[in-house]
Amino acid sequence: MTHIVTEACISCKYTSCVEVCPVACFFEGPNMLVIDPDMCIDCGVCVGECPAGAIVTDDTEEGQKWLGLNREFSKIWPNIQFQKNPLPKADEYAKESDKYSRFFEAGG
Ligand code: F3S
Repeated sequence: MTHIVTEACISCKYTSCVEVCPVACFFEGPNMLVIDPDMCIDCGVCVGECPAGAIVTDDTEEGQKWLGLNREFSKIWPNIQFQKNPLPKADEYAKESDKYSRFFEAGG
């Protein structure tokens, strides 16, 4: 099992998750983060750190849906280990569901 970042992260990027990860398995794209499923040791400490509730296990429907995208983009995007400011409208977008179409938008 592994943990997966899902669409709730899109346009938010609170990044509090990265500070607690003991194996630095988060990678940063323009408007969301992903986890490298092969690096994740499944400790689960990041789950409670995300204000958007974006991190789930891969044995859930949502986790399965986002597993491939996490795997693919963790090979491309840079590693992130330190918290930074969330995207400007994070609190607004945290309330929005069905954000997949925003995945292709630039950050901000
Ligand atoms: Fe995203 Fe939540 Fe981390 S919004 S950057 S998964 S704290």
